[in-house]
Amino acid sequence: MRMRISPSFGSAMASSFTVCRLHTIGRGSLAKCLQKVDTFLHRNIGTNVVAVQEEKNGFKSLYAVQAERQEQAEKSVLISCHSRTNEQKFLKYIANYGDIQKYFFYESYGMYAVVEFANQESVASLLEGTAIPSISHESLVPFKSRLLSMRNLDAVDLPNQSSGKKRQAQTSIPINELIQRLSKEESIDQQITSLTEAYQLTEENCRLRFLVCSLLKDIAAAFFPECTIMPFGSSVNGFGKLGCDLDMFLDLDGISGKNATMPKSGLFLEYQMKRANLERIVTQNILSVIGECVDQFGPGCVGVQKILNARCPLVRFVHQPSGFQCDLTANNRVAMKSTELLYLYGELDPRVRHLVFTVRCWARAHSITSSIPGAWISNFSLTVMVLFFLQRRSPPIIPTLDHLRDLAGPEDKCVIEDNDCTFVSDFSKIQLESNTETLEQLLCEFFEFYSSFSFRTLSINIRKGKEQNKPEVAPLHIQNPFETTLNVSKNVNASQLDRFVALCQESSWLIQQNKTAPSRGGTKAKGAITPWGVSTLLLPSQVAGIKSRKRRKFEPASERIKSLLESLKNINKELN
Ligand code: GTP
Ligand code: MG
Repeated sequence: MRMRISPSFGSAMASSFTVCRLHTIGRGSLAKCLQKVDTFLHRNIGTNVVAVQEEKNGFKSLYAVQAERQEQAEKSVLISCHSRTNEQKFLKYIANYGDIQKYFFYESYGMYAVVEFANQESVASLLEGTAIPSISHESLVPFKSRLLSMRNLDAVDLPNQSSGKKRQAQTSIPINELIQRLSKEESIDQQITSLTEAYQLTEENCRLRFLVCSLLKDIAAAFFPECTIMPFGSSVNGFGKLGCDLDMFLDLDGISGKNATMPKSGLFLEYQMKRANLERIVTQNILSVIGECVDQFGPGCVGVQKILNARCPLVRFVHQPSGFQCDLTANNRVAMKSTELLYLYGELDPRVRHLVFTVRCWARAHSITSSIPGAWISNFSLTVMVLFFLQRRSPPIIPTLDHLRDLAGPEDKCVIEDNDCTFVSDFSKIQLESNTETLEQLLCEFFEFYSSFSFRTLSINIRKGKEQNKPEVAPLHIQNPFETTLNVSKNVNASQLDRFVALCQESSWLIQQNKTAPSRGGTKAKGAITPWGVSTLLLPSQVAGIKSRKRRKFEPASERIKSLLESLKNINKELN
């Protein structure tokens, strides 16, 4: 076999490419290779589906899911391939090094393959058989990672020999395509389910996220061999949309002495460690060093920014091979708990995830939320608003955080920097009330609820599941579930809140007007599709330019409705 793999090296010049050379690496007979690939192909048909189902039906805790995914990631490698790499040849080559558990190809500035072996020894054996690139005009940073490049020094495969690999796109479908897709559904409930399916993270995308964390852990482990790097936020809380950022947590608690038990008597040894006045300074120093390593030595990591003076210090960069925008934090355990809580709520009732996805997608379509930090509502705040609304249904769809704390056992006790972050982890202890509202009802009611919510005087509080008097003058007050003296929407200004309210009012009206499909499947005789139901909520709005409540008062409702109808007609024409 005339293929070889080169590890991806950080190069001193941004524009550099590794040069390929002819190497022959052949371990084991061809027959053995073919047998391995064959076993692999047989074993893997449909396994992704099974894995996902197991997780859903078994109500696995986030901790269990993360442990499993982390283990998969440690047995995996990420390989950049030529777009015409022949899949069969590729697999035969890789199978030389061990049994392949799973693999998939995806595209992100080029073609990549994620390969998971049955055990970690196979990764070690693959890395041993991997060549170091030979380049003449630049210098290499001699850091070996599990990000590799597949080179083929034989003649390039002819196009008709290429395998037709299933290439997984790692981004979500454009909004116009989504509008068309939803318009073909037959009910609003189906539209909402379809929206979630189109936007949620795929099994492959989740695996890739854990693999990126694992690759970064290899860098951080040079200083802190016992550290772990775990994803948090929307990558794992169940509400992530394809293309969302990758929030990572560098966990050093195992070595921080926080959970240490000291012997009561006799001799013992302890480590000598440097000391600093403040934990924040330690966090900043660690992130500064790791950020520097990621920048200087991390293959595929570009645009590294150290944002160390933020409330929560972080290192931000783009991991090019995956296309993920990454935020690496340390000492951020409360955010991990918020992630766990959101995950739990999402698992309790499928309507939670569907509603959160729809509201997040609606908010993004109208620029209520943005990927750039600013005075707008964050996805986290918006999710808490949906949860609060679901707690306020009669009967409530999800329990309050106080109730979840009351159900907690001693093993769930968790206090972080004096904040009580305790809540039950055993799903079976949670009794849900029998609310039978449909997704359609819930979406309409959500817009109604926030159209008339008294933001001026009341605070949103998922701990109590009830509005509370606002403790401060911020336009929008959403109590931080764990750090209860903080407002998670402190950044939101009055005009952004006004836009949110105006859009809720408009959407409440729009959905009432467009509740039924124009004809079966929403398809007209000529095959043209008319947006209806949730689709109409994603079309450009008439309130986009509204800056304040005062201005809206002067605009007669009938005028707004007229112009809405007009714009709907125009959009229909454009789409058709
Ligand atoms: P997207 O990245 O926008 O898809 O959503 P996200 O939920 O990942 O939000 P983000 O990346 O802004 O934050 C990551 C996680 O940090 C959130 O899921 C929360 O768990 C946590 N977080 C973000 N903002 C706050 C906040 O103001 N207070 C608290 N307690 N946690 C927060
Ligand atoms: Mg995020």
